[in-house]
Amino acid sequence: MEQYIIKGGNPLVGEVEIAGAKNAALGILAAAIMTDETVTIDNLPDVNDINVLLEAIEGIGASVQKLDRHTVRINGSTIQNLSIDYDYIKKIRASYYLLGALLGKYKKAEVALPGGCNIGSRPIDQHLKGFRALGADVEIEHGSIMAEAEHLRGNHLYFDVVSVGATINVMMAAALAEGTTILENVAKEPHVVDVANFLNSMGANIKGAGTDVIRIKGVSRLHKSSYSIIPDQIEAGTFMFAAAATHGDVTVMNVIPKHLEATTAKLVEIGCEVEEFDDAVRVIAKKRLGHTQIKTLPYPGFPTDMQPQMGVLLSLSRGTSTITESIFENRFKYLDELKRMGALSKVEGNSATIEGVEGFSGARVSAPDLRAGAALCIAGLAAEGITIVDDIVYIQRGYERFEEKLRSLGGLIERVESEKDIQKFTLKVS
Ligand code: EPZ
Repeated sequence: MEQYIIKGGNPLVGEVEIAGAKNAALGILAAAIMTDETVTIDNLPDVNDINVLLEAIEGIGASVQKLDRHTVRINGSTIQNLSIDYDYIKKIRASYYLLGALLGKYKKAEVALPGGCNIGSRPIDQHLKGFRALGADVEIEHGSIMAEAEHLRGNHLYFDVVSVGATINVMMAAALAEGTTILENVAKEPHVVDVANFLNSMGANIKGAGTDVIRIKGVSRLHKSSYSIIPDQIEAGTFMFAAAATHGDVTVMNVIPKHLEATTAKLVEIGCEVEEFDDAVRVIAKKRLGHTQIKTLPYPGFPTDMQPQMGVLLSLSRGTSTITESIFENRFKYLDELKRMGALSKVEGNSATIEGVEGFSGARVSAPDLRAGAALCIAGLAAEGITIVDDIVYIQRGYERFEEKLRSLGGLIERVESEKDIQKFTLKVS
């Protein structure tokens, strides 16, 4: 089992390049099979979740050709199998985007029903409500969702909750429905906009992505396209928090600063200096930071995917902070791990109260999920002594070359596999 070993105490300093957005890429790769022509997608992050989805796409018969680490060519004309099995859904929930994509294109799809995951129960009722509104017959049988329609027809639909996944999934199916679909109370995340832009580049007619209402005029077919994915705002934010927690000075390159506004505003509020450039953001933290209140909300609110990184920072800041997690019910597990490093917090329901401490001491901790895992690495980089992070397979799902990027900023972090590797690292840094 691989682990990260970290010797904390070095401020992170320098420049770091951000990869393409994982959560945009997941939607875009699924949408790429909706045409029989060839699609080329660039700025794809080279992370496990993406590689598993590519396997799932290949598994249904599409041709998938990796041109280089970040570019893939997909052709969906050879698809024969309209069913995605549980193995893929178990490894990567977002394989369920193939439901919207296949239903739109072939008017039929079967995808294993995803269960809950480490961060919450994660129902998908809104996805199914959307497909039904378009006229599909949707049944759940033997653990699979079977969706089928004679014709998909545009409709007017109001989502009961703001959901990234439901917005993307239903938007894909509606792109190839007959007539106009109006989706209200949709998610406005940059990755929703990116998937809509990609579909439009293939000939879809989608307007309003990024606002509360998306209008889709169905078209009969989609065509070839070459598309470059937007930068990953969560990876960018993670490095911004790493800079702040280690009292560093990091310029995060290849970002869209507008997508980072909620993160930037909170960092400035607690005492960081943040400089914005056209496609970069520089974070400087010269002193111990202050406390604040955070409530996670759909975009443009403070992202739930940045909540653990913020929790680590606030655990090191002056005074008492509170975090309310309003998106997922189980996203505070990292605070228990952080207690092993000396942090002080109390969780009640969906709120956490954090008493800032002067510093952390390195300890062995486990990554409970992707973002919480990255947050614990930040804690290790800020801690005194050695931290070992277990279960880093979660981190590898969504961060490309995470340890290499941290090392390039002066972080002492290595991926290790054995006791011998650990000893080697300890000797090197002592
Ligand atoms: C996406 O998940 C992201 N994943 C998550 O990122 C992110 O945390 C989340 O959006 C919120 O921003 C991908 O894009 C692949 P939702 P998603 O549907 O689409 C409830 C990461 O670390 N809901 O917007 O699954 C749901 O329970 C991951 O990269 C319903 O009730 O999230 C939650 O409370 C983790 N019914 C809220 O809506 C539904 O049918 C928002 O979930 C769908 C969702």
